Amino acid sequence: MTDRFRLDGRVALVNGASRGIGRAIALGLAEAGATVALAARSEAHLHEVAREIGGDTFVIPADLRDPDQAREMVAGTIERFGQVDILVNAAGAALRAPAETTHEADIAEIFASNFNGIAVACAAAGRHFIERRSGRIINIASLASFRGVPGRALYGATKGAIAQLTRTLAVEWGAHNVGVNAIAPGWIATDFTREVLAQPEVRERVLDRTPLKRIGDPDDIVGLAVFLASPAAAFITGQVICCDGGYSAG
Ligand SMILES: NC(=O)c1ccc[n+]([C@@H]2O[C@H](COP(=O)([O-])OP(=O)(O)OC[C@H]3O[C@@H](n4cnc5c(N)ncnc54)[C@H](OP(=O)(O)O)[C@@H]3O)[C@@H](O)[C@H]2O)c1
Repeated sequence: MTDRFRLDGRVALVNGASRGIGRAIALGLAEAGATVALAARSEAHLHEVAREIGGDTFVIPADLRDPDQAREMVAGTIERFGQVDILVNAAGAALRAPAETTHEADIAEIFASNFNGIAVACAAAGRHFIERRSGRIINIASLASFRGVPGRALYGATKGAIAQLTRTLAVEWGAHNVGVNAIAPGWIATDFTREVLAQPEVRERVLDRTPLKRIGDPDDIVGLAVFLASPAAAFITGQVICCDGGYSAG
């Protein structure tokens, strides 16, 4: 039974792996037996995570705002290990601003960070997965994929796009045995949310609305990510699953 949750012999490419949720997922996939490739911009942080994981962990620095680097991240990992089985897209940037103060440059920047490179990476990995008739993609969406959140018009639009990319790739690639799902985290304590959660009124509002009465930790996302990457989730595709302490249930 427990073998269904193991990832021995699999190669996982995780971007956004230098810190926060991506780093926690990379550690979790490695603990479940996967060989891991780590991508993000800050090479020094990636090497720290690689040292923590040990083994044959591969560091491949990439700025996903550049489509060539997004493609190279996938190609470089395939070249290094001969295969990729799991792609986790956890890279992302925050943008909090009233919609009326945003401009074209903000739209271009946030879509480049949160969507464009990820879509390119999915296509590159998808070609490989289709050829091998096997593969899993796990995107990191957000509660803002579904709900209007004040001050997050552009960020929410990128995460809505990630949710829809997830469903559509699942529909297109299901016949090739490629599974595509997303995790929508609730409020998780990372660099991403540090500033906003430091505001007592925000923290209080979040805790009040969260049935489990705490802010999440990056480690809270790991179980679901490992499950979605594992043989146990073989019949699950096209889903955007909330992992939010119950926030979305209220
Ligand atoms: N924390 C939350 O409450 C929360 C809630 C919902 C969704 N999310 C989503 O979860 C994901 C991870 O967020 P987090 O909370 O772990 O934030 P984080 O701690 O700020 O980590 C963001 C990660 O993305 C990488 N990254 C950012 N821009 C990149 C780029 N252009 N190219 C490559 N890598 C890039 C960063 O690495 P470098 O800076 O080294 O490139 C870092 O590894 C994001 O997609 C975010 O939207 C977070």
